[in-house]
Amino acid sequence: MKHIHYEDENSRYITIGCVEKVLCMLACWVEDPNGDYFKKHLARIPDYIWVADDGIKMQSFGSQEWDTGFAIQALLASNLVDEIGPTLAKGHDFIKESQVKDNPSGNFKSMYRHISKGSWTFSDQDHGWQVSDCTAEGLKCCLLFSMMPPEIVGEQMEPERFYDSVNVLLSLQSKNGGLAAWEPAGASDWLELLNPTEFFADIVIEHEYVGCTASAIQALVLFNKLYPKHRKEEIENFITNAVHYLEDIKMPDGSWYGNWGVCFTYGSWFALGGLAAVGKTYNNCLTMRKRVDFLLKIQRDNGGWGESYLSCPKKEYVPLEGNRSNLVQTAWAMMGLVHAGQAERDPTPLHRAAKLIINSQMEDGDFPQQEITGAFMQNCMLHYAAYRNIYPLWALAEYRKRVPLPSRIT
Ligand SMILES: *[C@@H]1O[C@H](CO)[C@@H](O)[C@H](O)[C@H]1NC(C)=O
Repeated sequence: MKHIHYEDENSRYITIGCVEKVLCMLACWVEDPNGDYFKKHLARIPDYIWVADDGIKMQSFGSQEWDTGFAIQALLASNLVDEIGPTLAKGHDFIKESQVKDNPSGNFKSMYRHISKGSWTFSDQDHGWQVSDCTAEGLKCCLLFSMMPPEIVGEQMEPERFYDSVNVLLSLQSKNGGLAAWEPAGASDWLELLNPTEFFADIVIEHEYVGCTASAIQALVLFNKLYPKHRKEEIENFITNAVHYLEDIKMPDGSWYGNWGVCFTYGSWFALGGLAAVGKTYNNCLTMRKRVDFLLKIQRDNGGWGESYLSCPKKEYVPLEGNRSNLVQTAWAMMGLVHAGQAERDPTPLHRAAKLIINSQMEDGDFPQQEITGAFMQNCMLHYAAYRNIYPLWALAEYRKRVPLPSRIT
C-alpha cells in the first residue's frame, strides 16, 4: 500500500496507465471504501474517458503531450507562421506548462523511481512519468520556438529548463547506445518470463527502442547547435553511441522493427531522421541505404505505403490486405525518404506519394480515418485520432519545402 499511495500521489491519481489505475483504485477501495484515497481516484477517472465516433470508452491514457509535440512540428514545417501565430503561441505555452518541474517526491530512489525533472510525459504534467521520446519531442519543439520571434510564439523557455530535459535524456541511455522509454534499462532478460499479462510483450523490464533513440539524437543535435557549450562532450558521446545503436540493430528485409507505431514505416521515419540529423547519407551509411531501398520496394502502385498491424507481433513487414495504402504510414515513409535525401536522388516516389495524400483530403480539410496505426508492446493497438491530420500535413509540408516541383506528376 505504501508503494500504491506513492504512485497515486506522484501521478496526481492518474497513475501510469489504465491497467494500473484500476488496480490502484481497487486497492484503495479495499483499504477504505469511504476514504480520501479512493475519492481522489474517482476525481481522476475523467482523464480516462474518451468520446469516440462510436461511443464513450476508456482510453489507455491521455496522449495530449505526444500529440501536441508532433502537431506543433507539423504546423511549424508548414511555414504558415503569419497565418497561425496564435495557434503556435498556445501550443508553445501548453508544451512549456507541461514540462515536469520536479523529481518524484521524497527519497524517490528508495521508491524505485528515476529522475523526472525536466522531462515531458506522454499525457500532461500531472501524470509525472518521464518518457524519453516525449521529452525529446518536447525539447525539439521548445528549441524550434526559441529561434522564432517571441512576439508571435511567446517567450522562449529558460536555459535551465532546457538543461533539465537534456539531463533526463542523457540519463536514459543504455550501454549499447539505445534509449529506453521510462527508466534506464539494465535488468536481466529472464525477468520477462514473469510477465503476468496475456497480450503485452516485453513489459517486465525496460528495453531500448529505435524511435526513442532516434528522437533523442534529433533533439540533442539541435540542442548542441544552440547551446554548444553545455555538457558538450557528454552530448557528443551520447550521439555517437546512439548512432551506433541505430546502425547495429538489423532485421530481415534490411529494415528494423519500430516501436509505438506500426511498425517498419514508423521505425523508418524515426531512424532515417536520426541518421540524417548527424549527417549520414545514402552513400555513406549502409543502414540508411537498406532502409531506403526497403521503403522503395514496398511502395504500393497508388504511390502510398500500407502496413498491417501484424507487422508488430510478427516482427516482419506484412502488407495491408489487398495491398491497400494508409495515409499515415504513407506520410511516415515519405518523411523518412525525404530525410534520406530521396528528393536529390529520384523524387518520383515522393511525387507519387504526395499526389495520393493530396487527392485523399476531404472537402472540409480532414483526412479519412483508416486503419489503426499506433502500437504498444507488440500486441496492443492504439488509436490516435489526431494522426490522420498531423502526419499527412507534416509530410506535405516537408515535400513542399524539400522536393523540387515536378514539371508533371504522372
Ligand atoms: C500485392 O503485391 C504483391 C507484391 O507487389 C503481389 O505479389 C500481390 O499479388 C499483390 N496482392 C494483391 C491482392 O493485389
